[in-house]
Amino acid sequence: MNICILGTGYVGLVSGVCLAANGHVVTSVDLQADVVDRLNRMQPHIHEQGLPEMLRRVGTEKRFRATLLLDDGLADADLVVIAVGTPTTEGRIDLRYIREAAGQIGTWLKRSSRFLSIVIKSTVLPGTTDTFVRSILEQTSGKRLGAFGLGMNPEFLREGNAIEDFTKPDRIVLGHEDARTLSLLQEVYQPWSCEKLAVNTRTAEMIKYANNCLLATQISAVNELANLCFEVGGIDAQQVMTGVHLDKRWNPVLAGQRVNPSILTYLVPGCGFGGSCFPKDVQALCTMGQEHRIEMSMLQAVLTVNERQPRQVLRLLEKHFGSLEGRKILVLGMAFKPDTDDVRESAALKIVRDLAQARSTIIAHDPIALDNARKALEDVTVSWVSDWRQALTEIDAVVIATKWVEYTALAQPEHTAHLQGKVVVDPRRLFQPKDFPQAVYFSIGRRPIS
Ligand code: UDX
Repeated sequence: MNICILGTGYVGLVSGVCLAANGHVVTSVDLQADVVDRLNRMQPHIHEQGLPEMLRRVGTEKRFRATLLLDDGLADADLVVIAVGTPTTEGRIDLRYIREAAGQIGTWLKRSSRFLSIVIKSTVLPGTTDTFVRSILEQTSGKRLGAFGLGMNPEFLREGNAIEDFTKPDRIVLGHEDARTLSLLQEVYQPWSCEKLAVNTRTAEMIKYANNCLLATQISAVNELANLCFEVGGIDAQQVMTGVHLDKRWNPVLAGQRVNPSILTYLVPGCGFGGSCFPKDVQALCTMGQEHRIEMSMLQAVLTVNERQPRQVLRLLEKHFGSLEGRKILVLGMAFKPDTDDVRESAALKIVRDLAQARSTIIAHDPIALDNARKALEDVTVSWVSDWRQALTEIDAVVIATKWVEYTALAQPEHTAHLQGKVVVDPRRLFQPKDFPQAVYFSIGRRPIS
């Protein structure tokens, strides 16, 4: 099938490349000439594991190309997927890019006699596709739904694992407003054997939000429990959660083996969730609740707990040092999670800002997100280092803010030798207390009482 995709972020580009790798012919449309040029030279402009190889394959097979022109992208398309950004502006979802895309497609539809299905893949609030998008398409094309198709196919991609999540999905949600779009979506995803759920578009939109909000809720719930463990003292929240994880409702035993579902990785104490999804999606549902005049008490609390969580790191350091003025603190990791260069809403940035506010001297590192972090913190005085090992001799404390595997080296004797009597703060639990016998080890949700 000929598919056109608007938007070349990690959702649009990964979706396009993976669909092309599964037999479709994909034309990606973007507004930026340099991005289009790079993609046609089969060089991705975003960092995702496995993307360069897959882009090279589908580009070589002539199954994937990029263009600046929507008309070019739609020329032979049976289906167009809108995967443009839906940023948050003042706590509300910003649909300007969706509006622009739908308007351009509607204008094209006006001139075309061919049937085309328009499928939203961007995360939009429940009831957006079948009202906001539909009305723009009908107004700009002069046609009614039925003369074109309308669908909503949410993505469940984790940054850094987007290729894996697209190629091996848990389920595919086929949101549709008309039968032709449903059958087109069934054809698009025919190569995938997982369960497929055919629902209306607003149900599809809500599945996406509910999924993210419930994951974020787990994180904040555990963090709140961890903070109480810290205040009580003598309880390690990590041990508490290990005890919880053994409940068969979280972690069933099958044929004598624990299943160890990945939900358990969202039930660990930490310094809060970041990224371009969880904070934005939880906030968007809270705002939607207000507009429908209902209390979103739970989700509001998820945000409140999360906004405060990175500050636990400052509290730990001030509890130990008193004033942090002039203290040299190395912060390892800026990305909102490992294996991505994305720093949006990263807890690490909030930790750096807190340390700057406390007038400490900050040294910072990240394996691949350094440039993005430097831009996001351009108003903060930070010494950016490419090799964190060199900094160990001159610091008073080190904070491992992102769980990059590379930082496990910190526990090697050659490095712990420089940490004698110094403070190690491990809010992502990359380590155990025993890894730093000569240092003062802190983590979230753990306060030994002597
Ligand atoms: C998330 C959803 O997982 C994905 O399905 C959706 O499509 C997009 O949003 P993503 O934001 O890329 O994906 O990252 P994810 O791996 O889910 O982690 C989100 C944040 O939660 C990260 O900042 C991570 O550090 C944090 N996190 C995760 C915690 O703070 N504590 C945990 O226990 C687990």
